[in-house]
Amino acid sequence: MDHFLYKGGILHAEDVAIPDIAAQVGTPFYVYSAATLTRHYQLFTEALSPLPHLVCFAIKSLSNVAVLKLLGDMGAGMDVVSGGEYRRARAAGVPGDRIVFSGVGKTRDEMRLALTDGIRQFNVESEPELRALSEVAASMGRTAPITLRVNPDVDAKTHEKIATGKSENKFGIPIAKAREVYAEAARLPGIEVVGVDVHIGSQLTDLAPFEAAFTKVRELTLALRADGHVIRRLDLGGGLGIPYTRSNEAPPLPTDYGAMIKRVLGDLEVEVEIEPGRLISGNSGILVSSVIYVKNGEGRDFLILDAAMNDLVRPSMYGAHHDIVPVVEGAPGSPTHPFDVVGPVCETGDTFAKGRELALLAEGDLVAFRSAGAYGAVMASEYNTRPLVPEVLVKGDHFAVIRARPSFDEILSRDTIPAWL
Ligand code: LLP
Repeated sequence: MDHFLYKGGILHAEDVAIPDIAAQVGTPFYVYSAATLTRHYQLFTEALSPLPHLVCFAIKSLSNVAVLKLLGDMGAGMDVVSGGEYRRARAAGVPGDRIVFSGVGKTRDEMRLALTDGIRQFNVESEPELRALSEVAASMGRTAPITLRVNPDVDAKTHEKIATGKSENKFGIPIAKAREVYAEAARLPGIEVVGVDVHIGSQLTDLAPFEAAFTKVRELTLALRADGHVIRRLDLGGGLGIPYTRSNEAPPLPTDYGAMIKRVLGDLEVEVEIEPGRLISGNSGILVSSVIYVKNGEGRDFLILDAAMNDLVRPSMYGAHHDIVPVVEGAPGSPTHPFDVVGPVCETGDTFAKGRELALLAEGDLVAFRSAGAYGAVMASEYNTRPLVPEVLVKGDHFAVIRARPSFDEILSRDTIPAWL
């Protein structure tokens, strides 16, 4: 369920007509629905009740500070993977004790930043990182709360570029070695073990791999407790998928996911943390674009949009499907036509869809990419010196630009010409 619906034949974000935003902001732009973000966050908190829990939004999926403030004000925690993301969470007013720090390559500077300003826990991914964190924390006279991210060697059955829980992936500590590393962690100065962390991948549409991983985490928790460790938190990562194609069968819902967590881990008397990104942000956003040209090619027709792979890279990078819809709905039964939907960037990979059946669109018409809230704006670049795509937030009948499109002067002012040239 999202809040991007047609009213009187015109696509709206909540109560705001998309063409009204386009007239003010220009295209392309992302627009997010506050009601959808709020609802999706609540689905998780409801699904995990009455277990003690914290839903830590994976801010890599959508990191605009206004969105983080919306979720943070509702009590959400944040999962960050860099000093930059940590700063964003803090700028949104989220206290350090609701921020978990994930990622395989945390630097000493990032550790110092989080230890100075407050952190709930570091999810440590390797022995060298554990030793570095111990040194940094001890040198500051602080104690770093940690979990170890274990790699359960489970196939998440998702796209290979976003599967993280197999032994050949760079993530986590092999689960078979975990007890040994926990023993070292317990001996190190400046380190306090608080729990176990796992994250097996993204866009999972089946609960079985989660259940396999959580079952292994359960066994490990019991073994670690027998070894004398205090395991009071389990961070179960993110990864629950969303339906990118509306007509397809819907993936499991947060309620199903929550019920499975309660069944597998509910008796352990732990606080459960989860790190959902896509399920909160994905269907909360769309990318709106205009048709620049309709070009008749050989045996195919191209819809050339003003959005490109630099604005939404997922189709080009993962072969991902996004539903594309006209902003002004045609009359029922209007003819459709197969289009190759492309952007203006100078490479063939700048293709959003091939042979997509769409209404007969013309120059200047607006289209929307659905399910673009997650891993959309955050993965955008200025390739081809195309200004970073702006972001808009809608709440009821209000809308505001929450990241403006940079001017060409701003873009060019970032480059400097050395005096010796
Ligand atoms: N926790 C950790 C440690 C992660 O690495 C990730 C995602 C998440 C949580 C959130 O996963 P989610 O609930 O959003 O599935 N750019 C790719 C997705 C990369 C996901 C990376 N890690 C895409 O566009 O599909």
